[in-house]
Amino acid sequence: MSLPERIEKIRTQFDSDLSKLRLTADSLEELRLKYIGKKGGISRLFRDFAALSPDDKRTFGKDLNLLKKFVEDSIRQLKEKLAENRQTDSGFDYTLPGFSFKEGHLHPVTQTMNRICDIFREMGFGTEFGPEVETDFHNFQALNFPPDHPARDMQDTFFIEDDILLRTHTSPIQIRTMLKQKPPIRILAPGRVYRNEAINPRSYCVFHQIEGLYVDEHVTFAELKVTIEVFAKKFFGQDVKLRFRPSYFPFTEPSAEVDISCIICGGSGCRLCKNTGWLEIMGCGMVDPNVFEACGIDPEKYTGYAFGMGPERITMLKYGIDDIRLLYEGDVRFLEQF
Ligand code: PHE
Repeated sequence: MSLPERIEKIRTQFDSDLSKLRLTADSLEELRLKYIGKKGGISRLFRDFAALSPDDKRTFGKDLNLLKKFVEDSIRQLKEKLAENRQTDSGFDYTLPGFSFKEGHLHPVTQTMNRICDIFREMGFGTEFGPEVETDFHNFQALNFPPDHPARDMQDTFFIEDDILLRTHTSPIQIRTMLKQKPPIRILAPGRVYRNEAINPRSYCVFHQIEGLYVDEHVTFAELKVTIEVFAKKFFGQDVKLRFRPSYFPFTEPSAEVDISCIICGGSGCRLCKNTGWLEIMGCGMVDPNVFEACGIDPEKYTGYAFGMGPERITMLKYGIDDIRLLYEGDVRFLEQF
């Protein structure tokens, strides 16, 4: 490298060191040694300068002297500034970068639940909560699952005692509400539920449900359909299509399962919808008269609808998550993405 190139290089290096400098006595001394100490870059330049021809000395001498003066001046000014800082503050270096705190956010399932509740709240639904440890009466019997009814097998239950269990759905919240409150009733029942199921990519032993209940005179299946349609379009997008498939739940009659057109392929068929074009999002139906009777509500006077969905499943559909366990492992690399 020629001498002028070396002069230029040292100058840029010094500028860059200056811009990154944390003003302390140590770092300033380090800077001084690096450039104008005995073994510093500029001192070395001067040594090589001595070997140049008189002509070259005349050409480059000025540049070299300017560089040295610039470095010496800068370091002197910094020293003065450092001394000034010492006098005006307690030695605390206010130019140090501050501590940064990592900002957290709500879990993706909580975000989904909040969004679902917001949409139904706009349609006049209040929110009710209930205990996770339930009685057989609230979780099964009042919901028209008689003892030994095979439908109990649909929900593998964790029993605590004979009649005490971990709730397998949030429907007992609806029973509790109907027992204490007379119609009209329009509520959402969100919460954590438990099922004694094998843990695999599609099922977990604990998850969430959000159920809805509307009871009044003259409530119809048509109102149920419209309510769910408004919800689905707000949540998944205006273009989404819905279909209601006949189904069975002990506590509703008639019952249906609700599918939406696949949010990835729009209905033409893909991996997410397993080429059917449809994704199941919830169960629903008209409240069975036996349920009203168990809660002391006159089934001749009142009708009602109920629906229930799994926020985990809806979160997985929305973000294309293919393993429910990811939602429970607390791995920040996963959670940070939402
Ligand atoms: N509780 C039902 C379940 O867990 C879901 C549901 C609620 C279905 C209300 C219909 C009406 O399977």
